[in-house]
Amino acid sequence: MKVLVINGVNLNMLGVREPALYGKKDYKTLVREIKAHAKAVGVKVTCVQSNYEGKIVDYIQCALGKYDGIVINPGAYTHTSVAILDALKAVQIPTVEVHLTDVDAREEYRKVSYVAEYAFLRVTGKGFDGYMEAIDALKGRAV
Ligand code: DQA
Repeated sequence: MKVLVINGVNLNMLGVREPALYGKKDYKTLVREIKAHAKAVGVKVTCVQSNYEGKIVDYIQCALGKYDGIVINPGAYTHTSVAILDALKAVQIPTVEVHLTDVDAREEYRKVSYVAEYAFLRVTGKGFDGYMEAIDALKGRAV
């Protein structure tokens, strides 16, 4: 099974941005932990990150025929991007939405998620562990 993990806008700033909210570990560490977990559960994983909405759409489109699952944390694009939702609907790849923080317990504007309309599961407020849970859920769904 092949899973594409997409991190969106500002997630490259992990470790630096608002550590009280997002933790002190950086993006490189997140990728390392995701890869180690994926290996342990027998999933092939590719991790990408972009601050550009169109680039994220490109990643989703290019996943067609290549990946069996997508884990996506679009960052702030979660709350604004119909384009990312449309791309997910276009490729029809099983998708899990992940957020490090509990977005529903934060500002009103974070309660809206376009991606949620397509994702079969949302994992929020579990920090890095949320990505591991998402991979496990995709694997569980595939078997
Ligand atoms: C986030 C939550 C978003 O509201 C925020 O804009 C982010 C990160 C999270 O992982 O908790 O950039 O997606």
